[in-house]
This record gives sequence, C-alpha cells and structure tokens, in this order.
Amino acid sequence: MELNIALLAGDGIGPEVIAQAVKVCDAVADKYNHKIHWRPALTGAAAIDAVGDPYPEETHAICASSDAVLFGAIGHPRFDNDPSAKVRPEQGLLKMRQKLGLFANVRPTFTFPSLIDRSPLKRERIEGTDLVFLRELTGGIYFGKRGREDDGETAFDTCTYTRKEVQRLAKKGFEMAMKRSKKLCCVDKANVLESSRLWRETVQAMEKEYPEVQVSYEFVDAVAMRLVQWPNSYDVLITENLFGDILTDEASVISGSMGLMPSASLGESIGLYEPIHGSYPQAAGKDIANPLATVLSAAMMFDDFGLFQEAEAIRDVVNRSLSEGVVTEDLADKGKSYKTSEVGNWLAKHL
Ligand code: IPM
Ligand code: MG
Repeated sequence: MELNIALLAGDGIGPEVIAQAVKVCDAVADKYNHKIHWRPALTGAAAIDAVGDPYPEETHAICASSDAVLFGAIGHPRFDNDPSAKVRPEQGLLKMRQKLGLFANVRPTFTFPSLIDRSPLKRERIEGTDLVFLRELTGGIYFGKRGREDDGETAFDTCTYTRKEVQRLAKKGFEMAMKRSKKLCCVDKANVLESSRLWRETVQAMEKEYPEVQVSYEFVDAVAMRLVQWPNSYDVLITENLFGDILTDEASVISGSMGLMPSASLGESIGLYEPIHGSYPQAAGKDIANPLATVLSAAMMFDDFGLFQEAEAIRDVVNRSLSEGVVTEDLADKGKSYKTSEVGNWLAKHL
C-alpha cells in the first residue's frame, strides 16, 4: 500500500516524539511492503513564528490531501500566561479539527501488565481496565458563541449542540460498543443542562437501532468519581467536548504515565493520530520524552487503514520494550533509562 501521511510535529517535545513514530512506521512499512510518503507541515507556535498562523492554509491543504495526519503536540509557555495574546498555538488545533471535520475523538485507557504498580490507583482497582472515550470534538462550548459584555466585566461562553452532531458521534459510539463488550455509557449533566437533555434524548432514541447494546446514562460528576473508583467497570463512553477533555485527562493517568496513551480524531474521511499528552516544554530538546503514546497513535492509524497485522506488530514491540525495560526516564524508576531516540531506534530495530 502507498500511504501519504501529513506529518505535523508541532511544538515542545512534538518533533522528538514524532521522529520516533516515523522510524517505527517506516520499519513496519519495510516489513510489510508498504511505502509511506511523509508530508511535513507547520503547526502551532512554530507556525505562528514562521507565518503568523497556527494552522496555515498550506498546512491544511497538505492534511486534506493526505490519507492521514500524524500529529505531535501543540502549545508554548510563552502564550500561556498572556491572556491578551491574539493568536495562540491551541487555536491551530481547534481550527484543524474543525476544518478537517474531526468530530470524534477516540481516547482509550488501558493498563500495561508490566506497569500496573506505577498507577496512582491500587492494583485491584485498575486490573483489567480497558475503556475508550469518544469525545465530541467540533461542537459544544469550545465552538459556541463567546464574548464580553458590560465593559468587559462579564464574560460568557455558550454550549450549543444540534441533534445531528449528537447522532453522528453517538453512532460511532454504538458501533464501537458493538465491536467491544456491547456496553455504552452516555456521560452528561442532564439534571441541569439543556444541551445534555438533547444528548440524552437523542441517544435514547437511537437505542432501538442497536438492541444488543446495553446503554447507561450517568452524570459527569458521578463518572469523574467512579472513574477513579472502578475504572474497569466502564467500556465505551460517549460525551460532549468539554466533559471529554476533562475526563480523558483524568483517565489517562490510570495507566501509570501520561506518556503512554494514544488517540485518534476521526470524521467522515481523514483521521488524525496524536498522543494524549501535551507539548511538555520543560523537556523539549532534551531527548527524554516518552515516545510511546505517539508510537501507539501510529498503531491506531494502521488499524484504521485496515492494516491490523501492522498495528499489532507495533503494539507487540512496544510491550516488549516495556517488559525489557527499554524505557525513558519517566518509567525507569531507579533502573537504567534510555533517551527518546534510543527507544525509537530499539523499537524500529526489533520490528
Ligand atoms: C486536548 C487539549 C486541547 C483541548 C487544547 C490544547 C486546545 O487539551 O486535546 O485535550 O482542549 O481539546
Ligand atoms: Mg485536553
């Protein structure tokens, strides 16, 4: 297979972790006779510096004409403490999600047997955890009307959803539930919010199309609690944009390191694959960041191309690196730690 993949390294540790994913993908491509054409493009603070736009038109053209996008991270501390900044790197990510129509963000949380004791939660609470969030990504309060009134003394952000937006996300949720344990949890705040009532009503109406799926409805505050009490009681969860943003960060640490969890953002056609973690500016350029979340995101990409063996080969070699202790310093405890680039080389070699 010939694959054109847009490569958006972005900010902070983005370029370093992306470089390892490229090595791993190229090794897989060699092994299974594929050819990957990498198409690098600018995004984030790097793009603001170069052309004044965190998601330039040229980058969009490259993404839109590729088979997938592999993405590193976005964000720079120079913008974080400056509420008056007119352009911020994060806007690039939001614009990209919107322009590429990436409405469904798939964020799994699972545990690695060899790392189970690194989790902040007790072993018996997390053993067997294997859940996946489907977070709505192009609607809600992130994209609603916002502004200031009253001479700037009052600010507002609005959360708006249409039935269609809920339906297309929920459809992906039901389909994913059918492929897994047929359990779906709709996370909302229907006891307070009108937009949540629309979510609940829409999902309830879809239940009859999927009679085998057992659907539960839970309030977001209760889910936040149960997620740390009994994460292994969940399977597929669907939720709106902001709830999903918060809950997926909470869920991502269950595995023991934020540097491990991959994600995919899907729409009608193109998919974007990126680690859940951010740009980790303190580590940028030091060759110490954990590349595994990015490498595992590439595995999700191969899955979505229908290249399951290739995806499995990546997951296998990642598991091997973990059990053989070929890990970056975040996972090394007192043992030997490897550089980001060394982990990448090891993975590519052992594929
Ligand atoms: C995420 C991030 C983004 C979000 C930021 C960087 C805009 O936190 O992907 O979860 O809030 O969606
Ligand atoms: Mg987030």
